[in-house]
Amino acid sequence: MNKRVLITEPVIPSVIQRLENDFTVEVGERGRFNNEQALVEAIPKYHGLLPMLSNPITNKVIAAGKNLEIIANYAVGYNNIDIEAADKHNVAVANTPDVLTDSCAEFTMAILLAVSRRLVEAQEYLLDGQFESWDPMGFLGMELQGQTLGIIGMGRIGTAVARRARAFGMQIQYHNRNRVSTDIENELDARYIESVEELARTSDVITLHCPLTESTRHLIDADILALMSNKAILLNTARGPVVDEAALANALHNGTIGGAALDVFEEEPKVHPKLQNAPNCLLTPHMASASYSTREAIGMMAADAISGILNGKPPSEIPN
Ligand code: DGY
Repeated sequence: MNKRVLITEPVIPSVIQRLENDFTVEVGERGRFNNEQALVEAIPKYHGLLPMLSNPITNKVIAAGKNLEIIANYAVGYNNIDIEAADKHNVAVANTPDVLTDSCAEFTMAILLAVSRRLVEAQEYLLDGQFESWDPMGFLGMELQGQTLGIIGMGRIGTAVARRARAFGMQIQYHNRNRVSTDIENELDARYIESVEELARTSDVITLHCPLTESTRHLIDADILALMSNKAILLNTARGPVVDEAALANALHNGTIGGAALDVFEEEPKVHPKLQNAPNCLLTPHMASASYSTREAIGMMAADAISGILNGKPPSEIPN
């Protein structure tokens, strides 16, 4: 009998085809598996699961997966999966490091430029019919050249952002659990900052690239925002709960900081109402990895991990 694989949402067709070569594959409808109960009911008949980051792969779901051998998340982040429960039930877990690094780093630069040069406001002004003549005082923004970029989380994506920011003439400083190699520090002329407080005090832009863990939850709170300059910009393409959204909304409305761009939210897909009308705040629907080639590569990597495990490869050989 063919082993069975559940892909919880429609993904790029070549990914589905790759798995169909070896397995019986079912694909869920958009959003159907964003709740635990739907997963608990469906999971017993599958050997492989390819979930989205919006699917809660809890202890209850994993325990119900009597035949489950592998969960290959369609994402690099895996805070939606109870890793301890997977270990306990001998279910392998894979994610997709590397393949989305460039896409996420490019996207970070895109939202940084959009906020620093006030592009969203500018388009609204133009479409509202307010552009009557060239304005010497209109839309004065922040030039990136010479500004200091503070990176929290200097892994693959943080480092790729730093490389791009250097090309724009930015100075790099970073905070990370561990210091990166001297080679990387020298290449980027990057300064290691031991505390988030010091990073907040001394950065013109802060960008978040750390995973969501108990120690990074609300890492950016009212106290940290109060240390930032009133021109500073905060970017979050990591995970929503790393930022206390209510505190950020207040900081934007009070002019404590100059702007923000958020691709991720504390309770996705909900967006804090006070962020929706906050000044100079760009909000996007968790799309940092959304280029065709990257989404295909993510899917292929997850599919390969599933094929590997279901065909008998040891879990130590799959990416995580
Ligand atoms: C991931 O893969 O974790 C990203 O959040 C996708 O944008």
